Amino acid sequence: MQRFEGRVAVVTGGASGIGLATVRRLAAEGAKVVVADLDETGGTKAAEEVGGLFVKADVTSEDDVKALFEAAHAAYGRIDVAFNNAGISPPDDDSILETGLDAWKRVQEVNLTSVYLCCKHVIPYMRQQGRGSIINTASFVAKMGAATSQISYTASKGGVLAMSRELGVQFAREGIRVNALCPGPVSTPLLQELFAKDPEKAARRLVHIPTGRFAEPEEIAAAVAFLGSDDASFITASEFLVDGGISGA
Ligand code: NAI
Repeated sequence: MQRFEGRVAVVTGGASGIGLATVRRLAAEGAKVVVADLDETGGTKAAEEVGGLFVKADVTSEDDVKALFEAAHAAYGRIDVAFNNAGISPPDDDSILETGLDAWKRVQEVNLTSVYLCCKHVIPYMRQQGRGSIINTASFVAKMGAATSQISYTASKGGVLAMSRELGVQFAREGIRVNALCPGPVSTPLLQELFAKDPEKAARRLVHIPTGRFAEPEEIAAAVAFLGSDDASFITASEFLVDGGISGA
């Protein structure tokens, strides 16, 4: 099924993990894909693999984000899907008593301000078209507290949830859907990096996942493809959980 034939998607953080799997999935379903990332090598490779376009962009820079959507629109004439997904993991000890202000600010900048910038600069194109789907990557951690606190990370993802809900409501009548995607733990470089610092954390986390395993990036990409497609035409302002049941346990 080619749900994205004639459609254009922009994926931030498309060089790795969830973003890379989504680039592949959307392209396999017919989309023209614009890969945006700081990682030039990985991003170029991903774009070449799917016959798309790579744009080097730091999603914390308003100039870069504006230029990204301009480049996507200039190349393909429209933007149907924006998967605002680039993000970083929490600092080593992300409890409130340990996280320094600089580390806190950096996480908000990459995980939350980036989503604000991407939404701000893609919505005008979607408005012109009278349609579009924005999917912002939040996390299951925004839905539940954890004793092993990740305060800056959790707060950034909570902000993504709230912002997505509000934008979804605001732009619903203009044909623009905005949803927050909440993945559970996914086997990607981000998670591996986190667990390399604290191997026992992986085992502890597994105990709490009802499915007993981490997600594969492709399982998250499948949900992004659904939310980006017309199959999800009545879904907006939602918190879309793809978390193996962890937040429900
Ligand atoms: P990843 O580390 O595999 O990929 C993240 C990508 O974002 C990398 O290619 C990196 O170069 C890019 N990136 C980082 N900062 C950037 C910036 N300032 N500008 C442009 N690109 C930048 O990570 P993963 O696991 O695929 O994570 C993707 C998203 O999913 C993140 O927002 C993360 O917080 C979220 N998430 C991940 C979960 C997991 O268990 N892996 C669970 C829930 C949410």
